[in-house]
Amino acid sequence: MTNPVLVLNGPNLNLLGLREPEVYGSTTLAEIEALCRATATDHGLRVDFRQSNHEGVLIDAVHEARTAHRGIVVNPAGYTHTSVALRDALAAVALPVVEVHLSNIHRREPFRHHSYVSAVADAVICGAGAHGYQLALAHLARLIPQDR
Ligand code: DQA
Repeated sequence: MTNPVLVLNGPNLNLLGLREPEVYGSTTLAEIEALCRATATDHGLRVDFRQSNHEGVLIDAVHEARTAHRGIVVNPAGYTHTSVALRDALAAVALPVVEVHLSNIHRREPFRHHSYVSAVADAVICGAGAHGYQLALAHLARLIPQDR
């Protein structure tokens, strides 16, 4: 069986649904996971869905992906704007990467306008809410070489 894709979620995303719903919507992370599983199935992929509030745990998951996953959808959350280390990990694994944000980070506070991750991502989707994860998986499916 082929490796799954990794959908990796950063800090505070476990609080989705409760956390600033006017910014992030009312969809919970469990609901996003269900959406991702259904979308992945539509594209012939399997999903390993994870969330951590800890930078090192996210970095370890990216390292693991080097051999265990076929591509990465990542919402680095707050680490988007701070983490050179997460960016370096994503650059090191040489897998297709799609960065996703629920909110349109460019329409928000200036400190959210810069992403350390975008320069090592193949695509960036922001402002589409939970649907952004579906778009990200659909695009990741196009970036993954299909087995014949
Ligand atoms: C976020 C945007 C980030 O700026 C923020 O720190 C988050 C979530 C988003 O999905 O819109 O935690 O990545």
